[in-house]
Amino acid sequence: MAEIIVVANEDEAGEIYAQAVMKLLEKKPNAVLGLATGSSPLKAYEHLAQHVHDKHLDMSQVRGFALDEYVGLEPTHPQSYRSTITRTVVEPLGMNPDLVHVPNGAAETLAHAGADYDRMIEESGGVDIQILGIGADGHIGFNEPGSSLASGTRIKTLTQQTRSDNARFFDDDLDQVPRHAITQGIGTILRAKHLILLAFGDNKAEAIAHSIEGGVSSFWPASALQLHSHATVIVDEAAASKLHNLNYYRWAYENKPEWQEI
Ligand code: F6R
Repeated sequence: MAEIIVVANEDEAGEIYAQAVMKLLEKKPNAVLGLATGSSPLKAYEHLAQHVHDKHLDMSQVRGFALDEYVGLEPTHPQSYRSTITRTVVEPLGMNPDLVHVPNGAAETLAHAGADYDRMIEESGGVDIQILGIGADGHIGFNEPGSSLASGTRIKTLTQQTRSDNARFFDDDLDQVPRHAITQGIGTILRAKHLILLAFGDNKAEAIAHSIEGGVSSFWPASALQLHSHATVIVDEAAASKLHNLNYYRWAYENKPEWQEI
């Protein structure tokens, strides 16, 4: 089972992520970070950037792989995930942009872009820490409900719910939101060594409850975390509100041995 940590707010969650990455970097200065876009990881990146700044850490060897990219947006489009990762991760952390990869959503190479991406991740030695958000429908990356739990990186058609959830990044204009994305598959995500999923707000509560306490099912893609031996789920009270076993998760975290890392 994933470790469930209930926090007061996104800052507390962000600090837990930042500490985990800092510990990793002490041991491995060329660590491989799996990167997500969207709102959920923003505080986590901010906290990490603060530590990097305060400790004058050299991030130039750290490598990164984004989870996904829209198909049909130029990489230079402000809402492409390439631009978003550059703005929210690469620049604030001082990473080398050449070492940060985003799936390629360009039409000419789409047929093999997924397999190429998975190969690149494998050749890097694999993702050390993968940060994840979750969609209200339980998606991770852009693996919408019904996605194979063994899938590799490939094209997915976005659900209308995901498109309308993301319209906020496109001036609330649904027509501007792409219909397809290229996303790391669930099988790809499961090969990362440590998964840290962040969820905030009551619109995530149902997806969290199904994914953590329901059966493993491609219809709640984040339930695939139950198959991973090192998964951490960090939720605020609202996102945790539909979990039945909440008291046990709190008890377990409060009684966690000091030597045990997340
Ligand atoms: C983003 C991604 C998506 C988001 C999810 C939640 O790279 O892969 O799975 O994590 O849609 O988005 P937010 O965090 O904006 O609620």
